[in-house]
Amino acid sequence: MNEALSNRISRRSDQTTDMYDRAVRAGLTGHTITRRSGKTVTLDDGSACVEFVSCSYLGLEDHPRLVHAARTALERYGTHFSSSRNSVEPVEVRQLEELLGEIYPGMHGLVFNSVSSVHLGLLPLLGAGVLPGYPMGPGGPLFVVERTAHASMQALRGVLEQVGPVTRFRVEEPDSLTAALEQARAERRTPVLLVDGIGSMGGLIDVAALWEAASAYGGYVYIDDAHGISISGRKGAGYAFEQLGGHLPPGVLLVGSLSKAFGGSGGFVLTHDAADVTVLRREANPMVFGHSNMLTHVAINAESARMHVDGTVAGLQDELWANVELFDKVHGGDRLVNAGQRSPIRGLAMETEEAAFEAAVRMREAGVLCFPVFYPVVARGTGLLRFALSSKHTREQIESTAEHLGSA
Ligand SMILES: Cc1ncc(COP(=O)(O)O)c(C=O)c1O
Repeated sequence: MNEALSNRISRRSDQTTDMYDRAVRAGLTGHTITRRSGKTVTLDDGSACVEFVSCSYLGLEDHPRLVHAARTALERYGTHFSSSRNSVEPVEVRQLEELLGEIYPGMHGLVFNSVSSVHLGLLPLLGAGVLPGYPMGPGGPLFVVERTAHASMQALRGVLEQVGPVTRFRVEEPDSLTAALEQARAERRTPVLLVDGIGSMGGLIDVAALWEAASAYGGYVYIDDAHGISISGRKGAGYAFEQLGGHLPPGVLLVGSLSKAFGGSGGFVLTHDAADVTVLRREANPMVFGHSNMLTHVAINAESARMHVDGTVAGLQDELWANVELFDKVHGGDRLVNAGQRSPIRGLAMETEEAAFEAAVRMREAGVLCFPVFYPVVARGTGLLRFALSSKHTREQIESTAEHLGSA
């Protein structure tokens, strides 16, 4: 391994405290559940808690149509067809990819087993300039990674460096982006911006502005909108698609999750050119060398896509946003990370790890599970309680979080 990279990793490990282990020992995270009903989970000690942890923002996980799809798949295929993705696929994968073309008109969808697999499969091929729809300049790519881009992209730095250099920028410091874009121009490289849509721990990225900046330099914007899919936009196309004006500009690649609000499992990418899908199916590492998605999930994904197209999901979006608004209201708005933002994620940022730990203890004692996070998920020395809102939370469940959190 590249020495600088290995040092970065060992440095991060050295700087990580034992807070996560302490939180597990205290029963604040690392839970084992034995049952679920709505947003109430039963833990293995028999206690029942209300959870604000699951990223299934539209509560589709026990929707009768999805449960029925899984049962039908079991009867039709058994549990699994263990082959590489580009060798044998159940018809539901093709149905899903076609339905993605209805949710995102004119686009070509390709489904992977996870969002991380999309990144791993696509980004090296994009950088190598072998995707016909996304040609590279004579100097190759310059990967320009936003500081808060999800760890699944940041972790690929060493992989990306096999095809081009990697640099970073911060959205809140426009000069850092300009410097990276100028570097690309000077080196006759094509800048490839890697960003989130809705940030997993907070923030909404202005992807339209980034596209405007990148396109002036002949660049591309690769958006991981894992958290934004389904929760807004026509037919649940999601945050980034909506922010871009209800279409994908030619230099934008949009990646989505099927495992969060979508209610199934996996990840997908949308490209403009069917020829890109052909290359990815043939050459993307996880397509060739990875196993197929579990059949139940494949069938659930296809049925959920139908629920996006037929308008079922739009009704659930309204319930989600009403709950998000209520959460802001009962917490007094301003003190929350993402307050007032069109994101289903809320956070309570704490100046110290200890403060976050104590607040999580209070929530746990009140029978509320949230997600306490520490470095390296948030800045060193700080802590955050992360709350994921769902259309399924009841008014009482939301009000109780404010009651027990008090002035933490
Ligand atoms: C923004 C974002 N991207 C990617 C991932 C990784 O998703 P997957 O487990 O499908 O690889 C996550 C995981 O939660 C995420 O939040």
